Amino acid sequence: MEQFPYFFVVRDDVDLLVESIVEFLERRLRERLIVESPKPIGLATGRTMEPIYSRLVDKLKSWPTSDLQALVNGWKSFNLDEYIGLPIGDSRSFFNFMSNHIGKPLKLSADKLRIPNGHALNLQDEAKNYSNEIIKCGGISIQLLGLGVNGHIGFNEPPCSYDSLCRVVELSSSTRKQNAFSFGKNDNLVPSRAITLGLKEILSAQEIHLVVTGPSKANVLQALMNSPSTEKIPASWLRSHDRVFIWADKQAYRKI
Ligand code: GLP
Repeated sequence: MEQFPYFFVVRDDVDLLVESIVEFLERRLRERLIVESPKPIGLATGRTMEPIYSRLVDKLKSWPTSDLQALVNGWKSFNLDEYIGLPIGDSRSFFNFMSNHIGKPLKLSADKLRIPNGHALNLQDEAKNYSNEIIKCGGISIQLLGLGVNGHIGFNEPPCSYDSLCRVVELSSSTRKQNAFSFGKNDNLVPSRAITLGLKEILSAQEIHLVVTGPSKANVLQALMNSPSTEKIPASWLRSHDRVFIWADKQAYRKI
């Protein structure tokens, strides 16, 4: 099998891992200040991202005001996915997650912090338009990803082909269980559908950062590291990309 990933960082615990990722992201964000029209950033939601966004926001707020303002002015990010079927304004939507963790603290307007609209009247059109908007903005520069316990990235559930596009998907029972934490631990309350960027859009990013933490991800991370690309593990398509970084803590990466 070809070498995978391009860059692999393992840290003793999640705090050290977050520190390393944030240091890296901060450097990447700083580079945006000296580029004419920087390409958009690809963002993810989920518990893995919470400490990263919180630490990153703290760091960014300590930047000189003019630098932070320049970063905010030039900000453009696209999130991977959103639930379908939640009431407008629902606190468990990914829109709300992003606005609480990134949007409000950095004072970003909604046109800078883009996320698929799970309330669109025509969801197929919304998916197509969202994908086209990314292309119009020049494509994604760095893409952050979490990992589903079933190997999903975004909401690309197995089986999933490498050329899947932004679309409406049905969520698997495994994913609804994984995400039940925000729904009073009741997986029946987790929406059964979502809009997600496909593998094709994810693989078009210039650089991909997959973050994997905690013991619940150990099995899937091992399967990912040892498996060739297969529809059964959507994240395994990342093998075909030549700049994938995997960031893991020791609970998730147990070398056996
Ligand atoms: C969710 C989201 C992904 C997220 C992943 C990991 O279902 N669709 O974008 O990255 O699964 O979630 P967590 O970090 O909570 O484990």
